Amino acid sequence: MTQRSLHVAIIMDGNGRWAQGRGWPRAAGHRAGMEALRRTVEAAPKLGITTLTVYAFSSDNWKRPAGEVRALMALFRNYIRRETAKCARNGVRISLIGRRDRLPFPLPGMVDEMEAATRDGQKLHLRLAVDYSGRDAILEAARSSVASREEMSARLGPDVDLVIRTSGEQRVSDFLIWESAYAEFHFTPRFWPDFGAADLALALEDFRQRNRRFGATAA
Ligand code: IPE
Ligand code: IPE
Ligand code: MG
Repeated sequence: MTQRSLHVAIIMDGNGRWAQGRGWPRAAGHRAGMEALRRTVEAAPKLGITTLTVYAFSSDNWKRPAGEVRALMALFRNYIRRETAKCARNGVRISLIGRRDRLPFPLPGMVDEMEAATRDGQKLHLRLAVDYSGRDAILEAARSSVASREEMSARLGPDVDLVIRTSGEQRVSDFLIWESAYAEFHFTPRFWPDFGAADLALALEDFRQRNRRFGATAA
């Protein structure tokens, strides 16, 4: 069974524990996590995913030690430099969801350029959640009078079909809380740096067994 649009969201968790288990600094886990993201983006369209939203940095992650935040922002710059041209070639449109005004220079400009360079991509829409908070996104949308669920959804983004969270944690951590109202959830103990195409395929297999009723009775 395939569906025309498939929105998968991933909470990429467990980088720190992956590194610490090897006696490495947490930043090494984040670096390996970036490679896992590259693999996942490559695998996604082949598995029928049309929109992929990944949680890279939450608004609450600013609470982490300055050195770790710096390392994450450096990796984000690195990701944009390395991946933009390739994504443009491969039909991957990239956009950022989250606040841009707190990102350190020169990231805001780089994000604009990445979005512009990939805007025509038709194969996959990759949404990077950076300085993202689901509650803040709803608050922000509510500031400009939204009168219906449809208007709210139009402001926030498409509903999520499947949320995957790695590292064994089973919580939402303020990710896409409106958009995941009827999402299915898949939890895996694997730490994010170890995640690959086979894990993604397994999660989708699991998803396709689910009977989604949206409150109605099974047809
Ligand atoms: C996810 O891994 C990446 C970010 C939140 C930026 P963590 O850094 O949360 O790794 P753990 O959960 O501490 O293992
Ligand atoms: C959620 O993970 C944010 C990202 C994966 C980017 P956290 O590791 O920050 O979440 P908690 O603190 O375990 O809920
Ligand atoms: Mg974590």
